[in-house]
Amino acid sequence: MISTQESRKQSDALVLFGVTGDLAHKKIFPALYAMVKQGTLNVPVVGVASSKWSLAQLRQRTEDGIRESGAIDDRSALQRLLSLLRYVSGDYNDPGTFQALKQALGDARRPAHYLAIPPALFATVIKGLGAAGLADQARVIVEKPFGRDLASARELSAIARSVFAQDSIFLIDHYLGKEAIMNILYFRFANSFLEPIWNRNYVASVQITLCENFGVKGRGAFYESAGCLRDVIQNHLFQIVALLAMEPPAYQGFGAVQCEKAKVFQAMRPLQPNDLVRGQYAGYRSEPGVAKDSDVETFCALRLFIDSWRWQGVPWYLRAGKNLAETAAEVLVELKPPPQRLFDDSAPAVGRANYLRFRISPDSAVALAARVKIPGKQFVGDQRELYLLEEQIGEETPYRRLLGDAMAGDGALFTREDAVEAAWAVVDPVLKTHPRVHTYEPGSWGPKQAEALIAADGGWQNPILTRAAN
Ligand code: BG6
Repeated sequence: MISTQESRKQSDALVLFGVTGDLAHKKIFPALYAMVKQGTLNVPVVGVASSKWSLAQLRQRTEDGIRESGAIDDRSALQRLLSLLRYVSGDYNDPGTFQALKQALGDARRPAHYLAIPPALFATVIKGLGAAGLADQARVIVEKPFGRDLASARELSAIARSVFAQDSIFLIDHYLGKEAIMNILYFRFANSFLEPIWNRNYVASVQITLCENFGVKGRGAFYESAGCLRDVIQNHLFQIVALLAMEPPAYQGFGAVQCEKAKVFQAMRPLQPNDLVRGQYAGYRSEPGVAKDSDVETFCALRLFIDSWRWQGVPWYLRAGKNLAETAAEVLVELKPPPQRLFDDSAPAVGRANYLRFRISPDSAVALAARVKIPGKQFVGDQRELYLLEEQIGEETPYRRLLGDAMAGDGALFTREDAVEAAWAVVDPVLKTHPRVHTYEPGSWGPKQAEALIAADGGWQNPILTRAAN
């Protein structure tokens, strides 16, 4: 059975590099609070950052982060979390910082080091941990983007492997901890009706949208070094493509899933500049930390092909962007129309052909769209969605799930270096050679050039946020 449960030694401390940053504030503190409530976190949590903060300041920031993510409904869990916190301030280039960390760790021998820091600092911190003897029996959890291109990802892998054991390196992509994403894997391989049509003979195209109705929210400097392609496409959206496109795992185990996913990236055709439309929202250049003449994309749409037996010739369209009309993530797998148009209103003459839709956020849904006849003498109908799944109650947040898994040594929901490198190889040719950005209005669906990219396949389907009345 494919399971993520295996017993390994539990980490006996959690070290958060970059504890004063945005990610810790928004995602990690609420995740830690949930873990304490659940009874799964009761080891020291050592925050590390360069700011000269006191422990009291870190505690206050932790409490604020939890409050902003929702109500504090368990004061004693909050107190327990605050009492687990320790703080080390120092420069990551200074060996003294790592000595101070060693002291703060006390008796802990198997810490999990979480690097919630800019990618440019990963190598420095990993080497610092190694030099201070803080890597033996320890785990390292690395945030995406892992590297900034193929060459830097390879270099980083080599550094990480020279310091940590292979099975102690956890490359985090929080999308893999989302229930709706795990359900893609489950839905594909727990059902038999899908397999006969899940290929180039029946699938006309696949499109994936990750839209956000807010801008870079103070992360201008990070965005300048990353851009949309590196921030969410090479990782989050590619992971979704891999789960949709992979072959059945050859054996029952997550290792087999990882192998099949890596093969998808290996079969992807490297992108060329004309496969890509880059956009930038009007006003981005006035954001703090952004160059006045920036050509960094806050929107990216692309067309890619997977040169495999199953997917030959099927276009995969991906788009993501900041400051768009809605906040959602959705997949649309469009099937080919019936071979003959027996009715005047059949696709492709009217609307879309049948499709399968996976809503990933803000809610989860799996819907299958099929045409049915409207009562009356005439053979006309409309397309209705059959909902197979609606909002899941009691979902763990991705960070709570993934941090818990990493501290338990369970790598099933993490990406593997070979897959990350193969994904970089696909985007590498367009990281530097690409068309200039087109400006788009905040609140729109991006530059109009993105429409032309997909015009031959029925256009983009914008996620609709309220369920259509059937
Ligand atoms: C992060 C990106 O990895 O994913 C952000 O850095 C993006 O730019 C976020 O907003 C989207 O994920 P979620 O789960 O918050 O929708």
